[in-house]
Amino acid sequence: MKTTIIYYSFSGNTRRLAKFLEDRLSRADLAVTINELKLVKETRSFFQQGSQAMARARSALINPPLDLSAYDLLIFAGPVWAFTICPALRTFIGLAVGLEGKKSASLVTCGSEAPMFSGGGLKDLQTILEQRGVNVVFSRAVAGIRCADEKYLEEKLRDLLSPLPNG
Ligand SMILES: Cc1cc2nc3c(=O)[nH]c(=O)nc-3n(C[C@H](O)[C@H](O)[C@H](O)COP(=O)(O)O)c2cc1C
Repeated sequence: MKTTIIYYSFSGNTRRLAKFLEDRLSRADLAVTINELKLVKETRSFFQQGSQAMARARSALINPPLDLSAYDLLIFAGPVWAFTICPALRTFIGLAVGLEGKKSASLVTCGSEAPMFSGGGLKDLQTILEQRGVNVVFSRAVAGIRCADEKYLEEKLRDLLSPLPNG
C-alpha cells in the first residue's frame, strides 16, 4: 500500500506526529513518503494566523507535491487554528489532484482535545476532503503538546496502526 503523509506544522507538533507515523508505517514495510507543506510567506503573528484561518484564506505554497494519484492511502495532518484547519492544508487539498476515491486519514493537532476547541478543525478537514471525493476512514484530534509522547500517540492512533503488519 503506497502511502503519503502530507502535513503543515508551524511550531513543530504536527511535524513530530508526522515523523512518528512515518516511522511506524515504515516499520510495517509500507512504502511511505512524507511531505511538509511550506508557505511562500509565513507570518509569525498569532493574530494574522488566526484571522487568515477564520477567513478560510488560501496561502501560496512552495512547490507542493500536488499529484497524489500514485498513492493508496493519503494521510493529512495540520494544526487547528481558530477552530478550523490551517490555511496551508486547506490550500493544498483544494489544489491537489488524484484524490478521488482514495482512502484517507485526517489528523489535527490542537491546544485542547476537547471537541469545543478541536472539533471544528477536525470536522472542516474531513469536510473539505470529502468534497474532493476522498474516503476518510480515520480521523483524530491529537494534543499538540503530547506529540513527543510515543505511548500517547500509539494509543491515539491505535485504530489506524494496529491493522498494519507489525502494528
Ligand atoms: C493561530 C493559532 C490558533 C490556534 N487555534 C486553536 C484552536 O482553535 N483550538 C485548539 O485546540 N488549538 C488551537 N491552537 C493551538 C494549535 O492547534 C496547537 O498548538 C498545534 O499543535 C500546533 O501545531 P504545530 O506545532 O504543528 O504548528 C492555535 C494555535 C495558533 C498558532
